[in-house]
Amino acid sequence: MNVVTTVIKSRHSVRKFKPDPVSDSIIKDALECAAQSPTAMNIQPWLFGVLKNNETLDKIAAIADHGKFIAECPLCFAVFGEKKEIYYLEDCCAATENIILALQAHGVTSCWVAGEKKAYGEQIRLMLGVPEKYSLVSLIAAGYPKEITLTGKKEMKDLIFNEKYG
Ligand SMILES: Cc1cc2nc3c(=O)[nH]c(=O)nc-3n(C[C@H](O)[C@H](O)[C@H](O)COP(=O)(O)O)c2cc1C
Repeated sequence: MNVVTTVIKSRHSVRKFKPDPVSDSIIKDALECAAQSPTAMNIQPWLFGVLKNNETLDKIAAIADHGKFIAECPLCFAVFGEKKEIYYLEDCCAATENIILALQAHGVTSCWVAGEKKAYGEQIRLMLGVPEKYSLVSLIAAGYPKEITLTGKKEMKDLIFNEKYG
């Protein structure tokens, strides 16, 4: 293990946060890591919203069916992708994970909340004044953890094959 893999393995989705703010320097670092993500044909079809306003977070929580905890987090990122680009979803998922891991490296926990395929994605786009060419791919609720719940993972032996399956 090294420092990067330790950070990756220490990540868990956190849905209960302390109210303490996340510093602008950590936010900037996470956004720079997002912008550094791999992206098909280097199109970089993403747009990142940084949301801290309580009223905005309350409104998003009210319509995100599995994201009610967004009302309690001090920070939320909204990752949008340019729909016309064939690999926008893959690119924006890579950027989402980079944000999550960069935050984790700073001790800031988070939870990926679905955006793509959700009807509320369009409502959130309109609420934030984002141009129509973008689609909401993900929300990332973030903050310092109040409670961490561990999830079970499949066994490595059931996930892997070498050279040929079976
Ligand atoms: C595409 C995607 C969408 C997700 N949407 C939600 C969501 O809407 N609400 C939520 O609480 N968690 C959501 N999650 C987080 C997963 O529930 C979580 O990653 C999974 O249970 C594994 O737990 P872990 O992240 O702690 O390893 C989402 C994760 C992904 C990758």
